[in-house]
Parts: sequence; structure tokens; C-alpha cells
Amino acid sequence: MKEFKSIALDGPSGAGKSTLAKRVAKHFGFIYVDTGALYRAIGLFVFRNGVESKDEKGVLGLLSQIRLGMHYDESGLQRMLLNDEDVSDDIRLPEISTYASDVSAIPAVREFLLNMQRDMAKSHNVIMDGRDIGTVVLPSADLKIFITADDSARALRRFKELTAKGVDVTFEDVARDMMQRDKNDSEREAAPLKAADDAITVDTTELDFEQSFQALVNLISEKFGL
Ligand code: DC
Repeated sequence: MKEFKSIALDGPSGAGKSTLAKRVAKHFGFIYVDTGALYRAIGLFVFRNGVESKDEKGVLGLLSQIRLGMHYDESGLQRMLLNDEDVSDDIRLPEISTYASDVSAIPAVREFLLNMQRDMAKSHNVIMDGRDIGTVVLPSADLKIFITADDSARALRRFKELTAKGVDVTFEDVARDMMQRDKNDSEREAAPLKAADDAITVDTTELDFEQSFQALVNLISEKFGL
């Protein structure tokens, strides 16, 4: 019997995965694992080293210099460490989103991160958010949820999130980058973004945050009897 509970939460960018997962994790006392942060940290390292994000050989040449770590601050939020530097803020910059998406299409990068993600689920009750959690990382997750929302709702959420942080972007740029990233993430050969066959899809287009949160709480409570 598995000792720890695992919830896989996949979906495109801007569907609300991370905000919801954080709150759900807190509610049930699970650990929230944001796997996108791992790809972002690699993207940041590649960016800082002046290597093209689609230059597979160049990226692979850098992997041996990368040491990633995750820890949780006093409020339970995940902090991302890249060679001991806290890069939690830098990895959120829009240019790093594109780098993350590009490097995530490289199979050796995915392999590099696989065990780290699986190990988290071996030692904690987790809600893990990403693109391939239900299909590749945790195919035996106890519960798989695929969160989605229509394109304009997702772009608007991402735009609000960035401007609230003071990042200077236009809605058009955010929407264009997001669509391009989703296309890359869905069409790549290595572990593309898709719902696992046994995932439950939650469409949040018409739901506000509280309603989306409640929908997840209901699914999780029902599954685990919590
Ligand atoms: O969730 P995010 O937007 O922070 O993820 C950044 C990129 O990383 C995303 O465009 C695709 C990639 N990613 C992935 O391929 N697999 C995951 N499990 C998580 C993220």
C-alpha cells in the first residue's frame, strides 16, 4: 500500500493551477509542488549563460552545472534554488517562460528532472502541478485533475498576475506568448501537455476563484474521505 497521497494537477498556463493548488495544499495539509519552477530554473540558467533555448546541445552541455533545490518558507510557499541562489522571483519573468517551454521539449531535460519530482511524492502527501504529472511523472497518482479554461480567460488571468507584480507587459503580448507556449507544450513529442485518460477535467472559464477552489475541494474530499 502507498504511504503517501498524491494528486496530479495538469493543464495549460493561466488555467489557475498554481493559485488553486497552493490554497488546496494548505487546506488539506499537503505539500504543493510546482514542477514548472524546475523547468523555469533550467531556462533561467540557460538564459544567463547566453545559450539559445532551442540549442539542444548547448542546453545539455549546461545540465551538469545545474543543482536544483526546493524548500518551503515559513508560510509554506515553495522557494526555488538554483545552485544555492533563491531564484523564485527571477524565474517568473516573461522571457524565462519561453525559455522554460523550449528547454522542457528536450527529452534529456525532462529525464534530468523526473526523479526529483517522483522523490517528492515518495516522502510527502503532494499536490503536484505541471503538464505531464498524471501521464508521466505520477501515472499512479491517487487523483488526477486536468484544469482548463478558454484562451481569453487564461490570457487575462496571466496578464493581471504579471501587472500586479509590476511587470510591464501588454495584454496582446501576454496572450500571444501564452498561445505560443501552449502550442509548444502540447505539440512537443516528449511528454506533451494532455489530460491523462483517467483525469477529471475541471473547466474554470465560468468559475471565479472560490468556485474553482470549492470544485477541487469537493473532488479531493470525496476521493480521500477527508
Ligand atoms: O507551469 P509553468 O508555466 O510555470 O511552466 C513553465 C514551462 O515548463 C511550461 O511552458 C512547460 C514546462 N513544464 C513542463 O513541460 N512540464 C511540467 N510538468 C511543468 C512545466
